[in-house]
Amino acid sequence: MHSVAFISPKGGAGKTTAALLLALGLAERGQRVAMIDSDPNKPLVEWARLPGRPDRLSVHPSPTLHDFVDARREALRTHPDWMILDTEGTERGAMVFTALRPDLVLTPLAGSQLEATQAIKAAEMVRNFGQRGGRPLPHSCLLTRIPAAIRSRTLKAVVDRLRAHEVQILPTALLEKEAFRALFSAGAGFDALEAAGVGGVAAARSNAQAYVDAVLEFVQQTPVS
Ligand SMILES: Nc1ncnc2c1ncn2[C@@H]1O[C@H](COP(=O)(O)OP(=O)(O)OP(=O)(O)O)[C@@H](O)[C@H]1O
Ligand SMILES: [Mg+2]
Repeated sequence: MHSVAFISPKGGAGKTTAALLLALGLAERGQRVAMIDSDPNKPLVEWARLPGRPDRLSVHPSPTLHDFVDARREALRTHPDWMILDTEGTERGAMVFTALRPDLVLTPLAGSQLEATQAIKAAEMVRNFGQRGGRPLPHSCLLTRIPAAIRSRTLKAVVDRLRAHEVQILPTALLEKEAFRALFSAGAGFDALEAAGVGGVAAARSNAQAYVDAVLEFVQQTPVS
């Protein structure tokens, strides 16, 4: 089993969206996916209540740290190939990743210096945890909400700063897509959005697939727990 945690000390960075896109993409590829929703606002639990959740994808709430062991046990009962943890966007919320001990931690960020500072902080949290455990824990940032085809000067500066701090960045960015937002109101995945006549689904799907490929490539370079 592989496990991936999404963390950022900053709220609204794009964790829940990126976590769901990864889960949907893996399920589409025939993988069994169990998500743990450790955000007390339960955005993924809410998504799972909407019609059309793929059978291979389950969501398990862990609104407090005390619930984590039960949520993990419930998740394991589904015999997942992948466990994906979404966390609350605070420093305290981010620390839940230590309870999962994932193979990989991802930190989404939009292309601003403010978010870069928070992403560097997340990378340091993961690095410190790995050092304490005597085993490095792979971490990567993921640029998200990037306006299509625009590589602004600010974005370049953000990337340079992350590199200067030896923070890894996934080679594929998630673009700013209305279809990604629509998933949380329509439920299910891209097929349902297409059927509902939401615009721009094909481009969103192809961006999401490229992102899932990039995560898989990154995971293949990391040891399996
Ligand atoms: N790639 C994207 N394209 C369009 N909208 C996006 C994208 N990523 C995130 N959003 C939107 O930005 C907002 C914040 O995203 P999301 O909920 O994924 O962030 P988060 O890090 O999980 O936030 P929190 O810290 O509150 O849990 C949401 O309204 C979401 O729909
Ligand atoms: Mg969230």
